[in-house]
Amino acid sequence: MWEDLEVTLEKIENEKKKEKPSAEELGFGIHFTDHMFMMEWNRESGWHDAKICPYQDFRMDPAALVFHYGQAIFEGLKAYRGKDGQVYMFRPEDNFERMNSSAVRMCMPRLPVDKVLKSIKALLYLEKDWIPVAEGASLYIRPTMIAVEPRLGVRAADTYYFYIILSPVGAYYPEGFNPTKIYVSDEHARAAKGGVGQAKTAGNYAASLFTTQRAKKEGYTQVLWLDACEHKYIEEVGTSNIFFVIGDELVTPPLGGSILEGITRDSVLKLAEMWGVNTMERPISIDEVIQASRDGSLKEAFGTGTAAVISPVGEFYYKGETFSVNNGETGELSEKLYCELQAIQKGETEDPFQWVERVG
Ligand code: COI
Repeated sequence: MWEDLEVTLEKIENEKKKEKPSAEELGFGIHFTDHMFMMEWNRESGWHDAKICPYQDFRMDPAALVFHYGQAIFEGLKAYRGKDGQVYMFRPEDNFERMNSSAVRMCMPRLPVDKVLKSIKALLYLEKDWIPVAEGASLYIRPTMIAVEPRLGVRAADTYYFYIILSPVGAYYPEGFNPTKIYVSDEHARAAKGGVGQAKTAGNYAASLFTTQRAKKEGYTQVLWLDACEHKYIEEVGTSNIFFVIGDELVTPPLGGSILEGITRDSVLKLAEMWGVNTMERPISIDEVIQASRDGSLKEAFGTGTAAVISPVGEFYYKGETFSVNNGETGELSEKLYCELQAIQKGETEDPFQWVERVG
């Protein structure tokens, strides 16, 4: 089984290697490197046929369960090139522990974390020249698991693919580190308690598309979701968790089953606590945020995520009204968190929580 699983390596021919994008061309998730990692699972053999191979298409049966019932999970983490030329990953083990929680929720096989980490390191070593060095740029790592068994009955599949692709990226939002405008949805919901909102599964993102399109038409970058039951309490942004500085308190909604357990969210809480900031995980109603915006106690708002990093919010829209945050400017704490996280991630400053893993 997995203990004696060999990872084979098939390198791309030199003349088939792709051209690497310039810093200006990066965008997010547009370019992909020359190689990928791939393995398969079935009941008899467990995980098998692991390989690092040229980036390639899959051949899949049109009846594959993932296409019909959405049995798909993924992760997002990043590799960075430090000023010292070394390659670093940020909290990779936490990503794979979270992927295993998603797998359990979606009736999919668990991954052997240490073996997958070794394979990622080998893949990164092979693709290290793809890691962009521009400010705010990194190599985004997208591990994905999908159900490939052809079957139309609704049940968990008996066969799966797990693969990892790599994409050199710049900022997730077109605004970069400048404040974004977000649209608070009082009509639709991303996830309900008891559902799969806590799992990093494809359906949660599909559920966000309709409202996100509407928000974009109105000139907003993202949707801020409220709870599915009362449309009263703030949940998350879908592509990131959300924080507010209200008075002297840094607050974020508690993890109640419908919110993704963000690794950047956790890192922000730990860093802020270490700096002596008054941090709270507690329910925050949209009315409280509006009141705080009106009375001037709403100092900052920002999203946190692997892709979004720290993404300041300068304005939000709710029920036909717009509310400004910090006069549309990036706040002091958002800026400090962004700089510190980036410095830790690139191995440029002390790593007080041993989050960073050097690839070598
Ligand atoms: C990430 O932050 O890595 C995510 O998976 C969010 C995704 C929507 C880009």
